Amino acid sequence: MKLFDVYSLYDVEPTYGKGNYVYTEDGTEYLDLYGGHAVISVGHAHPHYVKAVSEQVAKLGFYSNSVENSLQEKFAEMLGKASGYEDYSLFLCNSGAEANENAIKLASFHSGKAKILAFGKAFHGRTSGAVAATDNPKIVAPFNRTENVEFVPLNDIEAVKAKLATGEFCAVLIEGIQGVAGIHCPDNTFLQQLREVTLEHGVSLILDEIQSGYGRTGDFFAHQHAGIRPDIITSAKGIANGFPMGAVLIAPHFEAKKGMLGTTFGGNHLACAAGIAVLEIFEKENLVANAREVGAYLIEELKKIPQLKEVRGRGLMIGMEIEGSASELRLKLLKEHHIFTGGAGVSTVRLLPALTVTRKEADKFLEAFKKLLNE
Ligand SMILES: Cc1ncc(COP(=O)(O)O)c(C=O)c1O
Repeated sequence: MKLFDVYSLYDVEPTYGKGNYVYTEDGTEYLDLYGGHAVISVGHAHPHYVKAVSEQVAKLGFYSNSVENSLQEKFAEMLGKASGYEDYSLFLCNSGAEANENAIKLASFHSGKAKILAFGKAFHGRTSGAVAATDNPKIVAPFNRTENVEFVPLNDIEAVKAKLATGEFCAVLIEGIQGVAGIHCPDNTFLQQLREVTLEHGVSLILDEIQSGYGRTGDFFAHQHAGIRPDIITSAKGIANGFPMGAVLIAPHFEAKKGMLGTTFGGNHLACAAGIAVLEIFEKENLVANAREVGAYLIEELKKIPQLKEVRGRGLMIGMEIEGSASELRLKLLKEHHIFTGGAGVSTVRLLPALTVTRKEADKFLEAFKKLLNE
């Protein structure tokens, strides 16, 4: 059987990793500033993570959501404390798209309304509702097209007000920082006004923190920079350092009813053990603060590079707008300097490293990047 050919691949195969590096079988080392698409949060093969996951799989890898699972309770308690959302409740699933799907459902159940408002260039995942709220017609199949989703430009509060005044919407769905679009931050004032206007109209505010959350920006969730509290927050990617896991954080005013949400794999023992290990490492190694410091340093240094048209983002979620093709430059970074980066659109290079990245590793990248830009 052949693989269904949907991914553009680099001809490099990392087979093992350690910290912020991955290695091919012959021992060639690559600095990983992409984190496997913002997924590696505590570094590759972190000893505490490896121990926790190995011990759990040897004990009980999985049982269904029909029995008590104290690992879920423990994870929920730790996540509440780490994020500052102790009074919210938690629904666990398997991916970012699934988290958004459940968030949309909750808002719709809650209000009895069907429409959601999303933003230009948004990316929320590839399942039915999430992809319908994604502003990229190329990945929206005819089946997924729906009149239940409308889009307005990011940071345009008047456009939001006009839509919500119709009374048809159950939710506004917004990324903490737009990632796939190329790292675009909503303004703090826009997020504050969005919170006000959604409250005024009784519309749920859903913050998609799948890429921007989990400490990456130096706050636990990116929206906390604006001092707002959404009704629902979705999370995935870095939550379990590569073990598939998604989460929905739900404000106290949502009433849970038996059977309203569910999943086979979500919140399984192995996922929870991985998630707990990640939060333990966050605390022990002060990783959110590290993301803030190393990220601020990287952004400051990148802003000094005259060839860059723009540097966007916060913490370790950084987009650099270059003159010319980002994919060509990224290929050179990989082949000539052995550094993995991410891309977005034609001319944006994205950095999404693990929260463990050091200043020394940031310098290694800066040196290689400047050298390539000067060629
Ligand atoms: C902001 C955002 N939302 C949702 C998703 C979808 O997550 P997943 O691929 O885990 O379904 C992504 C993935 O890149 C994302 O960046």
